Amino acid sequence: MTSISTNNLTKIYYSSFKRKNVQALSNLNLTVQPGTIFGLLGPNGAGKTTLIKILLGITFPTSGSASILNEDIKNYKIRSKVGYLPESHKYPSYLTGESVLRFFGRMNGNDNTNIKKEIDYLLDLVKLEKWRKTKIKNYSKGMMQRLGLAQAIINNPDLIFLDEPTDGVDPIGRKEIRDLLIELKQKGKTIFLNSHLLTEVELFTDRVAIMNKGILLKEGTVKELTEKKEEYQVQLDSEFTESDRTLMNDFSIYNIKGNAFDVKVENPVELNKLIDKLRENQKVIKSIILQKETLEEMFINLIEEAEGKKK
Ligand SMILES: Nc1ncnc2c1ncn2[C@@H]1O[C@H](COP(=O)(O)OP(=O)(O)O)[C@@H](O)[C@H]1O
Ligand SMILES: [Mg+2]
Repeated sequence: MTSISTNNLTKIYYSSFKRKNVQALSNLNLTVQPGTIFGLLGPNGAGKTTLIKILLGITFPTSGSASILNEDIKNYKIRSKVGYLPESHKYPSYLTGESVLRFFGRMNGNDNTNIKKEIDYLLDLVKLEKWRKTKIKNYSKGMMQRLGLAQAIINNPDLIFLDEPTDGVDPIGRKEIRDLLIELKQKGKTIFLNSHLLTEVELFTDRVAIMNKGILLKEGTVKELTEKKEEYQVQLDSEFTESDRTLMNDFSIYNIKGNAFDVKVENPVELNKLIDKLRENQKVIKSIILQKETLEEMFINLIEEAEGKKK
């Protein structure tokens, strides 16, 4: 069972002026496993919303195919098992939190007795019970997003699509949303979210894909994508001096700071040679750490590289 699978999914928005056609997705192949939080990252215009809209049947692919919860997206019945929080959603501002959920619950076919229990449960889950009778025009952005999340899961979906769920939300509000998403995952839900907020996504996604101009550039765990292969930081228990550096001339050592230095090696054998050399010279190694870049650094490098290649 896969939660989402796309096969050469392509979307072109045609315009009456041919040169203005937009290729929003290009031969996209992506798989999302059940019970995971998957983050689709990319700058504005990358095609993230288009992908969600195709998977939900709101717009149609130009070519290629896709399935959700093992059913072809053309089978509309599967959508009853899916939840969706659109980008910058809006509800009528005179409604209260409770009445928004009652409205969506009724649309989902719940009867009155069921709805009351469901609304109590959801308001408790998204921590809005105190504001249930407050008109949503007085809600903060974070409260609106939490209400949107409650709306997205009112049909108890297996797969939840969230389009920019934390956009415009302050840090505390973002943490609340993050905790909520982790809680939903623990309940066995699969979550697919779009975001351009990287430092955040890094904190709670199992896997991420990076997209630019409709093209999938990379996919993997955050750990896989941010590890700088063969670059290590070595820490000794005594200062690494200029004469130590001369001693270690065979290695590409840089960034020396007190007891520590960085080194780039060709392979693990070379790393072990470095360790041997240090130890032969009575150096005590305190730690060797594989270097990482942040997801944001990796993302910016990747997008710049992709843009550069195109020029
Ligand atoms: N309905 C539409 N008609 C024409 N072009 C569109 C439409 N929707 C999106 N686009 C274009 O497709 C590209 C991808 O947009 P979108 O999927 O909204 O990206 P993202 O969500 O990553 O910001 C953009 O260049 C956008 O202008
Ligand atoms: Mg978007």
